[in-house]
Amino acid sequence: MGRKDREKKLQKAKQQQQAAAKAQNPPSQKDEEEYNEENTNGEDTNGTEEQNSNGSGEEDTSSQSNGTNGTHSSDKKKPDDSWISPRNVTGVLASHPLSRDVKIINFSLRLGGLVIVDDTLLEFNYGRRYGLIGLNGSGKSTLLTCIGQREVPVPSHINIVHLEKEIAASDKTALESVMEDLEDERKRLETEAEELAMSEESSEADAADRLTELYDILDEMDVNTATTRAAKILHGLGFTKDMQHKQTKDFSGGWRMRIALAKALFMKPMMLLLDEPTNHLDLEACVWLEEYLKTYNRILVVISHSQDFLNGVCTNIIHLQNKKLTYYTGNFDTYVTARQEREVNQMKQYNWEQDQIQHMKDYVARFGHGSAKLASQAKSKAKLIAKMEEQGLTERVTKDKVLILRFADPGTLPPPVVQFNKVSFGYNAAPSSSSNNNNRRQLLYENLEFGIDLDSRVALVGPNGVGKSTLLKLMVGELVPSSGLIRKHSHLRIAWYHQHLTEHLDLTLSPLEFMLKEFPGEVEKERMRQVIGKFGLTGKLQTSPIQKLSDGQKSRVVFAWLAWKEPHLLLLDEPTNHLDLETIDSLAEAINNFEGGLVLVSHDFRLINQVAKEIWVCEHKTVTPWKGDILSYKEHLRKRMLENE
Ligand SMILES: Nc1ncnc2c1ncn2[C@@H]1O[C@H](COP(=O)(O)OP(=O)(O)OP(=O)(O)O)[C@@H](O)[C@H]1O
Ligand SMILES: [Mg+2]
Repeated sequence: MGRKDREKKLQKAKQQQQAAAKAQNPPSQKDEEEYNEENTNGEDTNGTEEQNSNGSGEEDTSSQSNGTNGTHSSDKKKPDDSWISPRNVTGVLASHPLSRDVKIINFSLRLGGLVIVDDTLLEFNYGRRYGLIGLNGSGKSTLLTCIGQREVPVPSHINIVHLEKEIAASDKTALESVMEDLEDERKRLETEAEELAMSEESSEADAADRLTELYDILDEMDVNTATTRAAKILHGLGFTKDMQHKQTKDFSGGWRMRIALAKALFMKPMMLLLDEPTNHLDLEACVWLEEYLKTYNRILVVISHSQDFLNGVCTNIIHLQNKKLTYYTGNFDTYVTARQEREVNQMKQYNWEQDQIQHMKDYVARFGHGSAKLASQAKSKAKLIAKMEEQGLTERVTKDKVLILRFADPGTLPPPVVQFNKVSFGYNAAPSSSSNNNNRRQLLYENLEFGIDLDSRVALVGPNGVGKSTLLKLMVGELVPSSGLIRKHSHLRIAWYHQHLTEHLDLTLSPLEFMLKEFPGEVEKERMRQVIGKFGLTGKLQTSPIQKLSDGQKSRVVFAWLAWKEPHLLLLDEPTNHLDLETIDSLAEAINNFEGGLVLVSHDFRLINQVAKEIWVCEHKTVTPWKGDILSYKEHLRKRMLENE
């Protein structure tokens, strides 16, 4: 059905409905006012719903299930994630149920015994793009999951897509997978539009807005252009034409994650929740995603530890700290300035209040038992203190704990410590020096000639699939060249960080047990506690099983393990994934103070900018030094992307 037909049909239905409604009972404004009053009172319009998830099966977390206020617990235990602690969520919807903005008051969230958020405001305005930031382990992912699972009373007309895991491996092609839910979604919206047009509410301004919006969304969903739109997104995320038609079962997990991201973008939900979406992307795809999200005109909530990405995409920042959410308008840089100002003012207010209180307390102590006049003045001051305390005193500013990471001085080795001589490599290439055409076509790299020393500070850049990680594997010795020679100093110690390391951790062990097992007999338990404490794993985190740690906390275990090896050479493949902004800065500082060499693969332009002295571009089967800095390279990518569109 075209838009015109749709509008005509709906208009007619609406008129009939309105006429009928008028004849019966005209909707009064009072009803609405009462509704709002009830809601903002913090009471539950639908009755407080205490959902205990002990398998009663009544809990409905599907995308259509909500619109209720109250309490929600969720610990539906699937067999393989039985260790996940139950979430308990409370909060009351305070915005109009048909509004596109969402405001939830008295929002609290607990994970098992851990309070993640305590009685705070959760608010998203339509058309805004929020960057959700906070230290590792503060609860960002948990928060996003509970919204994605509709454990908070987000009205049901706001469809939510939460990008959680990769697309399933199946016979469907990448392109088909991206589009697979389109038809269902279109039907859902058409039904909603018809129902809304027929309902009594259709004469209200919010309902009329919603109808117009539904028409717009349905228009944008045009099936005739769907394939082109899906292909464009996939292309932006690094899928060639051939790859778009490959079955998802033939992709690695990382690439299936990209397909899931493409699908989430393609669906263009009213609320899009992305948890560290750049983790699986190369620089080019990051630049593309940044450009794409810049114009996302619904609600976007994105967790990211990449400052330049947050700067490019976000219109607002939400800071999760000390169990509260603080809202800032503007991008990341604006947030930094605003937070500083806010903290300066908060400290001024705090000091002023404390001075006042101290002053009054002194007065009470001195004159409380004096003459009747003085005693009465002292009494009123005591009352004032009590009143100030009752109204809530300003809290002292708590600074985020800054980690000081350190990679020990490994001692010197004569250069070059790694030397590539005429190195060629291809995964399917014959292991020979034969240079026949067929063999050459299979090569990822051809005749590489370079050396790495202890003073090297190299960032490898280039599109995904070009073989940056492969180059690191060749340096480590995990892969051997198809031809040519890689010489390494015989005493060279290499620490190779890559994403899959966390997958190899024994999740049932605690960080302390893991380290003691990896380095048996090397140090006492107490000393090992200090070692991992330096990586921000303190207190209970040291002894709880690794599976109960947040993603960033898991990465810290890996870093502690790597640093303990006292390497000469750090090969870091996407080290910033999951690390919070503060820890990325600490890592940058640790690298800058490190006496050994560095080869870095990262999509974090800021980190590269902080630590790399050279940029090497991996492309066209070779490695070429880039003449400018990383920011000029980013600009080059952006221009090239815009030209190719
Ligand atoms: N299954 C679990 N049981 C108990 N506690 C958990 C569990 N999973 C995570 N936690 C704890 O809950 C807290 C919040 O974790 P969450 O993953 O939401 O943090 P995050 O802000 O996303 O961190 P990161 O930046 O590292 O991704 C952490 O302190 C973590 O140790
Ligand atoms: Mg997280």
